[in-house]
Amino acid sequence: MALCITITSTKGGVGKTTLTAHRGAYLADLGQTVLLVDADPQPTLSSYFPLRERAPWGLTRLMVEAATNGVISATTLDRLDSIFF
Ligand SMILES: Nc1ncnc2c1ncn2[C@@H]1O[C@H](COP(=O)(O)OP(=O)(O)OP(=O)(O)O)[C@@H](O)[C@H]1O
Ligand SMILES: [Mg+2]
Repeated sequence: MALCITITSTKGGVGKTTLTAHRGAYLADLGQTVLLVDADPQPTLSSYFPLRERAPWGLTRLMVEAATNGVISATTLDRLDSIFF
């Protein structure tokens, strides 16, 4: 069963991205399969993890076309993938 964790705040610079990156990597390290979704229009989560494979599309395609193919980027960490704007 998938568990969805949303990290959000109306205030900037309070550690949303940092917490998301660390929690994601920690869960992947524990053996969970993790998909990080960066919905920030000024995304910085992508800078935390080197990519093994960069998807040609991202969150916009997922939301507008409800298509999941070509939107998930693979990081170099096992079990940790990501979707960016
Ligand atoms: N637990 C923490 N202790 C100390 N510094 C932290 C902690 N979490 C984050 N920071 C620092 O605070 C700053 C802002 O963190 P971060 O970018 O994660 O916030 P954010 O909420 O994602 O910001 P934004 O609203 O700009 O997206 C960064 O310099 C980060 O290194
Ligand atoms: Mg942020």
